[in-house]
Amino acid sequence: MRVLVVGSGAREHAIAATLFRAHATVFAAGPRANVGIDPLAAATLRADPTIPGPVVAFAKVQRIDYAVIGPEAPLAAGLGDALRAADIPVVGPSKAGARIETSKQFCRELLAKYRIDASPKYVALRNADEVDARVAEFHGPFAVKPVGLSAGKGVWVQGNDFESPAEGAAYAKKLLAGGGEGVLLEEKVEGEEFSLMAFVTDSGIYPLPLVHDYKRALDNDVGNNTGGMGSFSQRDHLLPFVAQSMRDRALEVLRRTVEALRQDGIPYRGVLYGGFMMTAAGPVLIEFNARFGDPEALNVLSLYEDGDFDRLLYGVATGRVDPTLMTFRLRATVAKYVVAPGYPEAPKAGAEVTVDLPAVEADGVHIYFGDVESKLPGKYVLGSSRGFALVGESSAIWEATKRVEASLGRVKGYYFARHDIGTRADVTKRTEHVRGLFVPGAKASPLPLSVAAPGAPPSSAADDSQVISS
Ligand code: AMP
Ligand code: GLY
Repeated sequence: MRVLVVGSGAREHAIAATLFRAHATVFAAGPRANVGIDPLAAATLRADPTIPGPVVAFAKVQRIDYAVIGPEAPLAAGLGDALRAADIPVVGPSKAGARIETSKQFCRELLAKYRIDASPKYVALRNADEVDARVAEFHGPFAVKPVGLSAGKGVWVQGNDFESPAEGAAYAKKLLAGGGEGVLLEEKVEGEEFSLMAFVTDSGIYPLPLVHDYKRALDNDVGNNTGGMGSFSQRDHLLPFVAQSMRDRALEVLRRTVEALRQDGIPYRGVLYGGFMMTAAGPVLIEFNARFGDPEALNVLSLYEDGDFDRLLYGVATGRVDPTLMTFRLRATVAKYVVAPGYPEAPKAGAEVTVDLPAVEADGVHIYFGDVESKLPGKYVLGSSRGFALVGESSAIWEATKRVEASLGRVKGYYFARHDIGTRADVTKRTEHVRGLFVPGAKASPLPLSVAAPGAPPSSAADDSQVISS
């Protein structure tokens, strides 16, 4: 099949590489060259995909069977709608469907309208005059979020990014003064995060292995929020701190959200990504994304068995998935990004980094390229976004981490990577954190008010099936 991959990051490299392994003919459209994608592609279009016209024209000339849209910006700009209008099936929702990601207010209001009990307490604000009074309604810590897209970097959480309510209020006012679509204040929920991605199409919703993403820039979760510095997944496709029953409750939130969108006249074909916090009251939804996560896609796609990924994605784009194509190996994975020091707020881009590629390959570690330039294989100049990712697999998370660390030893030059990702100590700490939330009398932050009590029945549809028909 002839498949167009839209986007220029490591996530899109992983999508293209997985399609290439399935013997698809890959075409690429994105704003910049990608040293991983370009050698795989039969043809490339260097263009800003938030301007649909040239991408649609390229897809027509190349007689594309279907397109996969990686990043959120082209989805928000209506590239999915433009391709569908030209009769090209798409893995990726319409602009209207992408609002589940592009407007956090739309997302929260949709959940409230359909009584999907997964949100923390929140208020939406448009006016700086309201800020102080609404902040005073929060009796515990809270988060301040721009309503519109911010690549995960505009969110400030009390205790991490600011200390006093007054500082949070000042940040909310600053965001409101800067224009944009408004601000959300949300109760801070305590727990550990997990990402549940699923293919969504007319025939149902097909969950992918769970992933834990490390959002903060520096070891021990300090520093700024980033797009994600690395991630792990567990052999059984759950996580050490997310049991099957909790995964099923999260999947039920996805299923009901897809149904809510449909009832509001917004059919959805693509990847839906729920970012959840595993709390004492069950999974609480932090955000939805209308696409594969990055780095989460790197973990999950590395597990896809050789073969039929192109047919699987074609099914998503055209409405009917063959569930026997959901073949993800039962292995643990760890991904780590290599970035320019100072990422994300002040990346010192431009230094050369060398990678002993044959040795990395011999380690059995995948490399997926993002924002790097290269004139010679093995020599890369890091840009100001995430450079490249190393992904290892094994039976245990910390064994996969050791493989990635061994490969990081083969990367020389001026760069930064987090070394705590997926270590036994770090994974144990997260697991103990969640366990501690459940211990009676243990100190935990106030429970999110609107979340169903522990033990509240998940819908029976979610109990044991991997594939949920809607
Ligand atoms: P978002 O862009 O909404 O995913 O927010 C970015 C990051 O901020 C999340 O991945 C969480 O780490 C953190 N965050 C967002 N909302 C909350 C919340 N209500 N409580 C605790 N942490 C949050
Ligand atoms: N890793 C978080 C995201 O893709 O938004």
